[in-house]
Amino acid sequence: MINLPTSIDKTQALLSRENYVCDRSLATLVYLALTLNRPVFLEGEAGVGKTELAKVVARALGRRLIRLQCYEGLDASTAVYEWNFAAQMLALRAGEDVDLYDDRFLIRRPLLEAMQPDAAGPPVLLIDEIDRTDEPFEAFLLEALSDFQVTIPERGTIVAPEPPIVILTSNRTREVHDALKRRCLYHWVDYPSFTRELEILQARAPEAAQTLSREVVAFVQELRNADLFKNPGVAETIDWAKCLVALDAVALSPEVIADTLGAVLKYQDDIAKIAGSEATRILNSARAELRQRQ
Ligand SMILES: Nc1ncnc2c1ncn2[C@@H]1O[C@H](COP(=O)(O)OP(=O)(O)O)[C@@H](O)[C@H]1O
Ligand SMILES: [Mg+2]
Repeated sequence: MINLPTSIDKTQALLSRENYVCDRSLATLVYLALTLNRPVFLEGEAGVGKTELAKVVARALGRRLIRLQCYEGLDASTAVYEWNFAAQMLALRAGEDVDLYDDRFLIRRPLLEAMQPDAAGPPVLLIDEIDRTDEPFEAFLLEALSDFQVTIPERGTIVAPEPPIVILTSNRTREVHDALKRRCLYHWVDYPSFTRELEILQARAPEAAQTLSREVVAFVQELRNADLFKNPGVAETIDWAKCLVALDAVALSPEVIADTLGAVLKYQDDIAKIAGSEATRILNSARAELRQRQ
């Protein structure tokens, strides 16, 4: 069993060993969440490392990761458990003398699964993209997170002996209710600074040479000021660098940018806006910015 980190510095180091680069403020949040046993609520644009944080915390602590991917129409019963109706019917037809509410007919969904610790301790429960669900589901979650117990009418109430480590994320396509946020430690995950993003890129795509990595990060940072429909996230920065390495590019040029823009921008309108002279202008200003940093 891996012990929980005993300080903010140790938390930051633990995450960094899993190649997750974060500011002290995020490390503080994770440290407090683990120490005080509070759920974490991460909000931010797509591709800034929210989902990844949950994966990394699970890996770093040797815990199971249980993911509840939210979507429109997700309801409480699908999130907790279901009875395997088909198997129940089969057993009945076969004339078996069975308890229809036996464990073998119970399909454990993420919330029920997360209540069962294993030898390594309680799992990490990732409730991903909560903004895709609706208010009734939020209300249900609020309750589930406050007492970590669920009731299965045929079986009674199941209580988690130790609460899981809970990480909720939202891409903020809508506001999530205050009550749920108040239950959690909240953190807005922003796009990283130039220096931080370069560190992330070096951790995640070490095969990209220093010059190329700096240009990619500077270019993407400039792109985020270009008033696009969808800004590129850190995921796109990493993808782009990997594409460029695969093409043996050692530096950016208007030609290579034109050929690979689809790794960074995912909307045709954005690509049309940036392709051509605008890409050259951004490249020039990215290079000017890099010279300032030297
Ligand atoms: N701080 C970070 N340290 C290391 N990698 C990161 C970081 N932030 C983002 N990434 C990378 O970006 C990818 C996308 O992040 P993800 O967690 O899926 O974004 P989100 O859930 O916020 O949309 C991750 O797989 C990871 O490779
Ligand atoms: Mg995500």
